[in-house]
Amino acid sequence: MNRNIVCIGAGYIGGPTMAVIAKMNPDRKVMVVDINAERIAAWNSEDYSLPIYEPGLVDVVKEVRGRNLFFSTDIEGAVKECDIIFVGVNTPTKMFGRGAGRASDLQYWEATAREIKRFAECDKIVVEKSTLPVRTAAAMEAILNGGRGEGEEGTKGSGIQFTVLSNPEFLAEGTAIKDLLEPDRVLIGGPQTDAGAKAIQAVVDIYATWVPRERILTTNVWSAELTKLAANAFLAQRVSSINAIAGLCEATGADVDEVARVIGADGRIGPKFLKAGPGFGGSCFKKDVLNLVYLCESFGLHTAAEYWMGVIRMNQHQQERIVSRLFAAMFNTLANKKIALFGFAFKADTGDTRETPAGTVARLLAEEHVRVTITDPKALVNARRDLADLSDVTYEEDEYKAAEGADAIILMTDWRHYPTLDWNRIYDSMRKPALVFDTRNCLAAAELRKIGFRVLNVGK
Ligand code: NAD
Ligand code: UGA
Repeated sequence: MNRNIVCIGAGYIGGPTMAVIAKMNPDRKVMVVDINAERIAAWNSEDYSLPIYEPGLVDVVKEVRGRNLFFSTDIEGAVKECDIIFVGVNTPTKMFGRGAGRASDLQYWEATAREIKRFAECDKIVVEKSTLPVRTAAAMEAILNGGRGEGEEGTKGSGIQFTVLSNPEFLAEGTAIKDLLEPDRVLIGGPQTDAGAKAIQAVVDIYATWVPRERILTTNVWSAELTKLAANAFLAQRVSSINAIAGLCEATGADVDEVARVIGADGRIGPKFLKAGPGFGGSCFKKDVLNLVYLCESFGLHTAAEYWMGVIRMNQHQQERIVSRLFAAMFNTLANKKIALFGFAFKADTGDTRETPAGTVARLLAEEHVRVTITDPKALVNARRDLADLSDVTYEEDEYKAAEGADAIILMTDWRHYPTLDWNRIYDSMRKPALVFDTRNCLAAAELRKIGFRVLNVGK
């Protein structure tokens, strides 16, 4: 068994994870391969215009690319050359057939398993990095170890042993490099067999070069797969819980930030993930909670499925509530008004717009015939792509220009520089009465009111 590593899938997970593994394991060759040639070209671009924005990522890539990290479309060559294969391909929610709208679409995953099987010439450790339904490793193992089917290419390597592990990733976008360099924990699940134990040790060795051993947790493979879904569901549930309290705060005069501060001071609850806002976005929370719902239903656990579905419903409701409150505050008509969305990314420090609450709000506003202008420091390319079907939307890099002549601003993403903008200047350029709906509660509301703004917040 050699020490080379390949990751299939050069996305938000594959790129940063492998860059850090390469940085911390200079004696290993690390390859990242993908079917998307454009993406690979961006990873290899001379001026480092990488396909994703992530603070600190460029520096790590500059250090390791060409040294021991290589991006390529040559999946066959990489599978042959590496005995440890991470799979970080996308696993979106399935939008057709059985389980539509809930189950994971595993077609990319299965295609990868078949590629590995076709090209492998010796024993391999296959590591699930993507987030997957529980027991996917069994399906992977069945494909890999089940012998080649009739008509399938490749005859070499019959008798090859594949050991499938689960090593889910817990990094969050925007803090990916820090999360990878200083993880709370690394989880490696594997079969409870001799081969499984050896494979687990081989993957532990990769992380142990920089992660303290006590933070590398090993479990059986099903626990690892389920833990990842459960962890995301718990985080999503906290966001929905505080947003459910936010509505009650608005109705009663309580202040959600005060409530969260005091709840979070209880050591059993803790202060993190209690920020009320426009609801969670991102590629994973909704997808993974839906996946959990589907799993519960598949095993006849209907009340548990209902429980988790409530987390999603609450989240959708939060964006509808934002638009309803704006509607009421703007005299029950939004048609033809100009509204500027400040921020389109699903959170600060990323250009990622998958499942962003700003997308839902933009669409709800478009239904009301609002003239929407979107500004964002990193996400305008994705915003344009996401909303290509909407005609009355404009995109503006400069926040001041975006606000010019607007009736209202909705702050959707908590970009750090928004509170430091010249809000007097913005006020002067807007149509009056000028309104700011700060859905992240990050602006100084009292100051804005002094300037003359009408101000709405979430949970206040
Ligand atoms: P992504 O869409 O950014 O990247 C996936 C990549 O896989 C794409 O570039 C795609 O071209 C490639 N791919 C698909 N099929 C392929 C094939 N057959 N061969 C080679 N390449 C193929 O997705 P992502 O955000 O990196 O997420 C990947 C997985 O990681 C998902 O399961 C996700 O749930 C999980 N995850 C993501 C995050 C995150 O922060 N984005 C965090 C933890 C876990
Ligand atoms: C999340 C998890 O935090 C990661 O551990 C996990 O690996 C990842 O999903 C994944 O599986 O993809 P991510 O979606 O990148 O990471 O970002 P988070 O920081 O978790 O934020 C998710 C959403 O919740 C954002 O829209 C954010 O604005 C929102 N949020 C978060 C709140 O509204 N309030 C909070 O208190 C925290």
